[in-house]
Amino acid sequence: MTTRIVSYSRTGRSRALAEDLARALDGGISEITCSRYGGPLGYLRAGYDSYYSCLPEIDVAPPIGPANWLVIVAPVWVTHLATPTRRFLRAHRHLPPVAGVAVTRGGHGLLDTLREEVAAARPGFDTPLLALTGKPDEPRGRKLAEFVEAVRLVQSAPASLRVA
Ligand SMILES: Cc1cc2nc3c(=O)[nH]c(=O)nc-3n(C[C@H](O)[C@H](O)[C@H](O)COP(=O)(O)O)c2cc1C
Repeated sequence: MTTRIVSYSRTGRSRALAEDLARALDGGISEITCSRYGGPLGYLRAGYDSYYSCLPEIDVAPPIGPANWLVIVAPVWVTHLATPTRRFLRAHRHLPPVAGVAVTRGGHGLLDTLREEVAAARPGFDTPLLALTGKPDEPRGRKLAEFVEAVRLVQSAPASLRVA
């Protein structure tokens, strides 16, 4: 059973979370990169694109390869998954199923939009969602452990239960 962590991070918080999850789930990381959101205007472009659902060009390295499951890690932007991750999920419809989605966020707003996006990534399933701030002083051990357990449960379900 192989798990691929697919991570996007603009300022490093989601990347640190991806590294924790890679260790806990014994998976490799494929990183989404997107040059559009670097530099001084990156924040503004990120906000604009998120609001208007403009999905940017991305690269993914190393390639996903023959994994059984994906775990998605990304920041929340304007209540959605960050646009590079939305692009990934939209462009890669024939990838392994998503066993869990973990986000870092400033902490404001509801998670309703996000829950809908997570549900759309794997229709018909209650995909585990972990939401943290990703700040260095955040106590996250319990939430992280619960998420890892939920992902493991999804992965251990018989294949017959996984068909929508
Ligand atoms: C354009 C933009 C929009 C954001 N929108 C939200 C939001 O709607 N809700 C929230 O809680 N945090 C929001 N944030 C804060 C990020 O989710 C938070 O800083 C995140 O941990 C950054 O992750 P990263 O370091 O992996 O890039 C936003 C950040 C950016 C750049």
